[in-house]
Amino acid sequence: MELTIGDVAKRFGAVEALRGVSLTVNSGEFYAILGPSGAGKTTLLRIIAGIEKPDSGHILIGGRDLSDIPVRARNTAMVFQTFALYPHLSTFENLAYPLREARVPRDEIKRRVGEIAEMLRLTHTLARKPGTLSGGEQQRCAIGRALIRRPQLLLLDEPLTNLDAKLRHDTRAEFKRLHRELKTTTIVYATPDQLEALSMGARVGVLKHGRIVQVGTPADLYTGPGDDFVASLVGDPPINLVTGTLREGNGGQSIDLPFLGLDAAPWRKALTGFPAGTKLKVGLRPQGIWPRGSSETGPGFPAKVFLTEPLGDVTILDIVAGGDTRLRMVLPQEQAYKIAVDDPIECAVDLQQICLFAQDTGTAIHRSGAEAAA
Ligand SMILES: Nc1ncnc2c1ncn2[C@@H]1O[C@H](COP(=O)(O)OP(=O)(O)O)[C@@H](O)[C@H]1O
Ligand SMILES: [Mg+2]
Repeated sequence: MELTIGDVAKRFGAVEALRGVSLTVNSGEFYAILGPSGAGKTTLLRIIAGIEKPDSGHILIGGRDLSDIPVRARNTAMVFQTFALYPHLSTFENLAYPLREARVPRDEIKRRVGEIAEMLRLTHTLARKPGTLSGGEQQRCAIGRALIRRPQLLLLDEPLTNLDAKLRHDTRAEFKRLHRELKTTTIVYATPDQLEALSMGARVGVLKHGRIVQVGTPADLYTGPGDDFVASLVGDPPINLVTGTLREGNGGQSIDLPFLGLDAAPWRKALTGFPAGTKLKVGLRPQGIWPRGSSETGPGFPAKVFLTEPLGDVTILDIVAGGDTRLRMVLPQEQAYKIAVDDPIECAVDLQQICLFAQDTGTAIHRSGAEAAA
């Protein structure tokens, strides 16, 4: 079921929760809405679900205007961040509830509850009440209840936020599998967690202060962030943003960072027309800063290790360069195990992974995914 949202606005008193949101979700697509708390995610999903009315704009589901589709025929289900199950009912009865309400015959209820329990690995819990289920089982039960009426559009509002880290990881994989098995169900998944959005969404729409600021595949957003907000939101650990100044010399333009002068030749095209003295925000991915002397090389600078955070397979290093610029870098464990706090470290930057943003607006001048013009 295709979903089209056209110029939807919604205000609560003085708060503009949504400001002209437009997007299209393809039939059967897994579409993630990524945005920090307060961005308008819940409001948008509630409007799509028909629980809330927009002040203006339109919503088309399968080509029909939402307001023309009777509530009973909407075929949309929503799962909320806090999933309310009926505590006095068993898993079976919780799953069966929407079907009983719809007066589905007893035999069919039994069959469909069995099917959905199987799909969500809840069969062993059918006789038990929610209080005796694990957090993940309760969540799957809530999702089962949303799925049992076979919605063509499934709206998920931060469904993993209240689960612990391990369970979130497992459930992410579970959602992808579920989406494959459901085949035709269109899913809109709202989350403040970039990892969830990028790992599950075929496309991700980034919501900021009630506006969609960028739509793209996970790779698009990572390599080609449209502004510094998206650049900071996508990628883990977050991108380093350092102020640089454009200089003009005999040999052409360069970008002065507090700890390094970069020959600007690779970005010549993007920087055409910017006068000397222009301030830029330079984005350096933690994955694009290497210890010098490793196989890859690039322009180098000295730094000092400030913090180490070993994560098993990789270590995150916080370093200080050029006096007081803090940068993060990520090293494979085998390169990091000898490095200690306060050690000097020689670093190199990967020019391919640099993004440039305007200092004032944050708009991308050069995206790391774009062809360099050297
Ligand atoms: N019923 C409401 N009354 C007043 N303000 C609201 C209401 N619902 C949401 N808001 C405000 O609208 C903005 C967007 O909220 P919400 O859609 O819940 O964001 P998100 O789900 O991304 O955290 C917030 O500033 C929030 O405080
Ligand atoms: Mg919300």
